[in-house]
Parts: sequence; C-alpha cells; structure tokens
Amino acid sequence: MRVVIAGGHGKIALLLERLLAERGDQAVGLIRNPAQVADVDETGGEAVICDLEAASADDVAVLLSGADAVVFAAGAGAGSGALRKDSVDRAASVLMADAAGRAGVRRFVQVSSMGAGAPPRTGTGEVWAAYITAKTAAEDDLRARDLDWTILRPGGLTDAPATGRVRLAPPPVPAGTVPRADVAAVIAALLDNPGTRHQTLELVSGDSPVAAAVHSIS
Ligand SMILES: NC(=O)c1ccc[n+]([C@@H]2O[C@H](COP(=O)([O-])OP(=O)(O)OC[C@H]3O[C@@H](n4cnc5c(N)ncnc54)[C@H](OP(=O)(O)O)[C@@H]3O)[C@@H](O)[C@H]2O)c1
Repeated sequence: MRVVIAGGHGKIALLLERLLAERGDQAVGLIRNPAQVADVDETGGEAVICDLEAASADDVAVLLSGADAVVFAAGAGAGSGALRKDSVDRAASVLMADAAGRAGVRRFVQVSSMGAGAPPRTGTGEVWAAYITAKTAAEDDLRARDLDWTILRPGGLTDAPATGRVRLAPPPVPAGTVPRADVAAVIAALLDNPGTRHQTLELVSGDSPVAAAVHSIS
C-alpha cells in the first residue's frame, strides 16, 4: 500500500511512517522544509517537498498518483495563530481532499481533534476557537465528499510510549489523553480496514488492543 501523509514530519506522521515501512508499505511524507528529509528517510519512508499552504490541488494530485490512501496529519501546531489554524488545519485538509478526488485516491484518513464538531465554548481563547472552528470545517468538507473517508479525533496527545490499548468509538467519548504512538497504530489499522469508512471516531487511551478496537467498529 502506498500512503501519502500530509504533514510528513509531524510527530504522529513520523511514527506512522515507521509503522508502515516496517510492515512493508510505502509511506510518502509531504514536508515543506528540506532540512527534514533525513528524518523521514530514517523512518523508512520517502520525503516529498510540498508546502500545503502554497501548492495547488493539481500540484498535489500529481504527487498522489499511484497512491492507495491519504492521511492528513498536518497541523499549524502550538505557537501558531488563528490565521494558520485556518490555512493549515482547514485549508490544507481541503486541498488534500481536492487532490485525492482529482487523483482518484478514495481512501482518506483525517486526523482531527476531540472538541471538533461543535462550536467553541463561550469564553474560549481566540486561537483555540480558531483551531476548533478550522478542524470542524475540515471535517464538514470531508464528509461532503465522495471519498472513503474516516475522521479520527484523538484526545490530548502525549509523547509517552505506545500502550497498544485504546478506546475508539463514535462520539461522545469522555475526554482523555492518548500517546501519539497509539494514534499512529490506530491510523495504520484504519488503513487496513475500509469498513471504517464514513465514520467519525474519537480516540483516547483505553483497554482494547488496537486491532480489536478497529475491528469492532469496522
Ligand atoms: N496536540 C494535541 O493534543 C492534539 C490533540 C488532538 C489532535 N491534534 C492534531 O493532531 C495532528 C497531528 O499532531 P502532531 O502532534 O503529530 O503534529 P505536529 O508534530 O505539530 O506536526 C504537524 C506537521 O504539520 C506540518 N505542516 C504545517 N504547515 C505545513 C505546510 N504548510 N506544509 C506542509 N506541512 C506543514 C508541520 O511541519 P513544519 O515542521 O514545517 O511546521 C508539522 O510537521 C494535528 O492536526 C493536530 O492538530 C493535536
């Protein structure tokens, strides 16, 4: 399976690239900074330079030629302002979905966030509100498309080692945290299970082995 990952140098993306390479899949990480190529290479993946805030859908569609799936794992990240929440967390996902449609790549796993799908709570800070608004808009855009999408909303991300055990279910799942390594494992399992298409799933740490958790909602 050839999987193109938007935000290919992100923490989840690098973990996912390693998992995919280890099981014999091809992982292609789209990055905007050439200095990050070596880190992607080191996972066993392949880096391709593509700034998702500058590329056109046609540009990206060319990069998706021959791919079996797209994973959107980009994000403006901590320290960014409201404008980049819109240009990355919303617009770059829309761009990837447009490109997937043009390239005929049907499978699309979007990393969203718990909290998306509802308006930001009153009194929320401007940047958090922009983030939730952007994630919600990206989800809504993807749901309206004729693609085999799965929307994954992790809880608070940690850099703890993988536990291999999660709680994965349609919303609402009680708030919690989850290691990025477990998120990567869930994405890899979702890619193997097309029966999870057209589902919005929330993810926190839990008791179910990853494969069983994904199988149970397939
Ligand atoms: N933090 C949390 O607790 C939390 C909870 C739930 C969901 N999430 C979401 O989970 C996703 C992945 O999280 P993570 O921790 O793995 O993210 P991350 O480490 O911040 O990675 C995001 C990646 O997106 C890339 N990116 C940003 N703008 C780009 C552009 N214009 N073109 C290409 N790539 C670009 C960044 O590259 P650069 O190095 O070039 O900036 C970075 O490698 C994000 O969407 C995040 O919002 C986070």
